[in-house]
Amino acid sequence: MPDRYDLPANFRWGAATAAYQIEGAVEEDGRGPSVWDTFCARPGAVRDGHSGAVACDHYHRYAEDIELMRGLGLDGYRFSIAWPRVLPTGRGAVNPAGLAFYDRLVDALLEAGITPLPTLFHWDLPQALEDSGGWLDRDTAHRFADYTAVVTDRLGDRVPAWITLNEPFVHTVYGYALGIHAPGRTLMFESLPAAHHQLLAHGLAATVLHDRGLEVMLANNLTPVEPATGSPADAAAADAYDALHNRLFTDPVLLGRYPDLSALGVPDDLYGAIHSGDTELIHTPGLDALGINFYNPTRVAAPTQPDLPFDLVDIPDVPHTAFGWPVVPEALTRLLLTLRDRYGQALPPLTVTENGCSLTETTTPDQPRIDFLSAHLHALARAVAEGIDVRGYYTWSLLDNFEWAEGLLSQRFGLVHVDFATQKRTPKASYAWYRDVIAAHRGR
Ligand code: FCB
Repeated sequence: MPDRYDLPANFRWGAATAAYQIEGAVEEDGRGPSVWDTFCARPGAVRDGHSGAVACDHYHRYAEDIELMRGLGLDGYRFSIAWPRVLPTGRGAVNPAGLAFYDRLVDALLEAGITPLPTLFHWDLPQALEDSGGWLDRDTAHRFADYTAVVTDRLGDRVPAWITLNEPFVHTVYGYALGIHAPGRTLMFESLPAAHHQLLAHGLAATVLHDRGLEVMLANNLTPVEPATGSPADAAAADAYDALHNRLFTDPVLLGRYPDLSALGVPDDLYGAIHSGDTELIHTPGLDALGINFYNPTRVAAPTQPDLPFDLVDIPDVPHTAFGWPVVPEALTRLLLTLRDRYGQALPPLTVTENGCSLTETTTPDQPRIDFLSAHLHALARAVAEGIDVRGYYTWSLLDNFEWAEGLLSQRFGLVHVDFATQKRTPKASYAWYRDVIAAHRGR
């Protein structure tokens, strides 16, 4: 008997990927360099010196990959568009061959009965824009709106809903604060103008999308934050972390105001980045759905060192993924209920835009992934039973792929195994399981 979940009849089943993690072909057909090409070339930046130069070679093998999606019976496929393929220097002249690739991809998806759900920015900023300040420069937000217009003029006739940004929290903190991801800056809290400029980019692009009658989504990495103990110091640290990780990227969009970051020692205007009228630009266009990327909850304690106002601590006594992330499915239920408590009527419908589990296995049975996905779908169904409007679930990921600073081999998230030497795709046990879950849901 396949697993069944108590989810709405019109619930949408999907899988997700991102351009730099799967496409390869980084020098083909006029694509310009991105910050990730540059970062991967930096010695020691990525495990084993890997890069996304070839990755899953999806640029050439997209038809085969769509067959894998068709085999799953997906309703939707979340992928990202590489800005440097479309605009090699981020602005100015359009690269017709780059745009043509996404045109072919969209048509092939529609042909297979799968709704495309593109993300416009999944971290691969054109290097030329980084050279003029990247997300630290306000102008990048305007360039993003222009890029959104170029892409939607071409694809908006066939693609109804768009995700502007993927995880501005992770991009800001890993990319600009800690230097773990491209562009590898280590600005700590002074990275926060990059957060504001991404949110501004979201708002400007949302207006472009709505002007064209298209739906707007944003995919945020959200985590329920729990204090390590009942002490007031741990509670204060947890609040500070929650403001930074969750509220900073959701309050301006849904409520039109920034959370109080004073506990972090951050000025209200985010180091001069916030200009008058900006929060309206971010908030007014509205969101048609909030995308939630959920992997794990975060436990926070009072700081043991003076440089940060919190310590992130492990959650013991639960399974952990290959990444070392704690597996706590009920935290997803908690997260969704907290969003309703926090935003009330301002909360739009929700879609899980990423959720998945990395294992180190190659082609061996991947029961821990099945257990992970199944437990999270039950957790989702519990939130739906409590009245939360969740419209779909996109698992991360369709394919094993280039997992950023972790390279190609150490964190395999795919329902489909990829042999990076031969590009052979082999569906895993979780692929058959997900296919059966989708079929069972439809047969209800
Ligand atoms: C998310 C990213 C995605 C992938 C997963 C594991 O933070 O959006 O690209 O790397 O984590």
